[in-house]
Amino acid sequence: MGNASVEELFEPAPEFRSAANLGPAVYEEAARDRLGFWAEQAGRLDWAEPFTEVLDWSNAPFARWFVGGRLNAAYNCVDRHVVAGRGDRVALRFVGEPGDERTLTYRELQDEVCKAANALTALGVGTGDPVAIYLPMIPEAVVAMLACARIGAPHTVVFGGFSADALRSRINDFGAKLVITADGGYRRGAASALKPAVDDALTSCPDVAHVLVVLRTGQDVAWSRGRDVWWHEAVAAASPEHEAPALDSEHPLFVMYTSGTTGKPKGILHTTGGYLTQAAYTFWGVFDHKPDDVYWCTADVGWITGHSYVVYGPLAAGATQVLYEGTPDTPHRGRWWEIIQRHRVSIFYTAPTAIRTCMKWGAEIPAGFDLSSLRVLGTVGESINPEAYRWYRRTIGGDRTPVVDTWWQTETGGHMITPLPGVAAAKPGAAMTPVPGVSADVVDDAGKPVAPGESGYLVLTEPWPAMARTIWKDPDRFVETYWSRWEGYYFAGDGARRDADGDIWLLGRVDDVMNVSGHRLSTTEIESALVAHPAVAEAAVVGASDETTGQAVVAYVILREGADVGGDLTEELRGHVAKEIGPIAKPRRVLLVPELPKTRSGKIMRRLLRDVAENREIGDASTLADASVMDLIRDGMTAAPAED
Ligand code: PRX
Repeated sequence: MGNASVEELFEPAPEFRSAANLGPAVYEEAARDRLGFWAEQAGRLDWAEPFTEVLDWSNAPFARWFVGGRLNAAYNCVDRHVVAGRGDRVALRFVGEPGDERTLTYRELQDEVCKAANALTALGVGTGDPVAIYLPMIPEAVVAMLACARIGAPHTVVFGGFSADALRSRINDFGAKLVITADGGYRRGAASALKPAVDDALTSCPDVAHVLVVLRTGQDVAWSRGRDVWWHEAVAAASPEHEAPALDSEHPLFVMYTSGTTGKPKGILHTTGGYLTQAAYTFWGVFDHKPDDVYWCTADVGWITGHSYVVYGPLAAGATQVLYEGTPDTPHRGRWWEIIQRHRVSIFYTAPTAIRTCMKWGAEIPAGFDLSSLRVLGTVGESINPEAYRWYRRTIGGDRTPVVDTWWQTETGGHMITPLPGVAAAKPGAAMTPVPGVSADVVDDAGKPVAPGESGYLVLTEPWPAMARTIWKDPDRFVETYWSRWEGYYFAGDGARRDADGDIWLLGRVDDVMNVSGHRLSTTEIESALVAHPAVAEAAVVGASDETTGQAVVAYVILREGADVGGDLTEELRGHVAKEIGPIAKPRRVLLVPELPKTRSGKIMRRLLRDVAENREIGDASTLADASVMDLIRDGMTAAPAED
């Protein structure tokens, strides 16, 4: 990734710059008094009780923000807009994949959230009781999250693409008492079932007392009497009156599971006041949100992006947004652009992998739609390659729109490094600058800042309001994973480079985490899934570069002696991973090999396997315990190739 040449800088237009919510002065203002700055941003929220201290860092790295303050996240996302006389403003413009549409104003959203909150209470869910949500992208997903937030029941949303096994392990780790799901949702032109995975998962989830089921597709569902309850019946019967309790600023809002470097996903805990402050501030500032904007983020609520920039950020800011259930190519490849045209979307936020897919489909597809309503574009999930950046800005943004490349993580809760659309002379491929009030650096092995032009590790050097508070039920792992590499620094797991101007370029993960289509997958988790198959003795997984998805999962497998090497074994192993984790984790290729390259201490040298997977000359293999292994792997592979 090179430096942008001078002609590649994209400056905001003068009209955009002068009308922007944030100008260059904000950086200095935030740097002058970082905590005072965040306290001011907390003023974007309505507090039932004011906080008495901005940050308590005495028990670092376990932070408490806005100490002593009390508030309700759902009240802040919904009711206060109604109270302020904006009840008729549209909150959600839902577009179902089959073409059905539904509009919810803030007043209607308030009724739905209150009724759902009362229904949850009636089912025995109290403050502090964990709830799991496994839903398609329908308005009820937003309502369910807000209803949980309203009564102080922390939620964990599990992406609908995860398998029953993955759902079960999350439900049990979280200790969920209730699961909210649907019969199914529409994907790729067909009804796709969700409830069977819940039924399967619940065969061993002893804490779950009830399942609340949204009717979406009308497909047949198995029904467990006494346990299962229809959402439409329970919610319709409930009162739309509900007093939102004032909760502590540090009350748990949600847990989002994400892949780490071990086989067990980490439950990242976010709490109320700090998280909501940063989500609301960054939504407003980074997307330059104005009251008349129509915003659309294509992320699923099953990921952190769907939490911070579909639910909590936009709704706290009182935004009008599009919520789309389906895939970009159903029923045709112009579906997204058609939605933008129809709803006059002005701010659009998606992932580089989706942009590259649209590039592949051809510029003539978006050219067939009127995209002139767009004024800000954003990306998230991985670095955007300069070519895709230019295509996005020119073909989708008409060469008018700033593009904000937002770097952040499940753990950071909100945007951390990004250009501001009315300030930056943006460089295609660079995430540029820490958000005002955020302190980041690029350091070397010794923890010293690198010189301009050098690469190193990305660290966050000061606490920030939306930071993860801990790993659910595993505080030691929280300290160990993020805070132990350099004293006082949060280590993000990403490599980065500072260019000559001091701007930051992200270089990808430096640990055993892969990024496939903007989704985080753990090599170890997939390896564990493979080893759980009776035919597999050992497995090593790597992420190989892929033009469209960023990385693709490639698995090297040593079979057990005597295993039946039937014709479809590699196919079976791919399916096995999909069943254990979910289709997103399915290896692109499974290669049967006689050996794996290991160091003398037994550590698998994934770097060498990546070389093979990417058809490169094999790099330095001098630390291998057995130098001939790579030849064996190559020879073995040609004997048993396995590709889609
Ligand atoms: O490697 C970085 C990459 O995605 C990781 C975080 O993944 P996750 O927690 O699933 O959250 C994704 C949505 C926030 C990071 O460690 N990443 C995310 N955004 C960018 C990025 N890499 C480069 N540039 C980005 N804009």
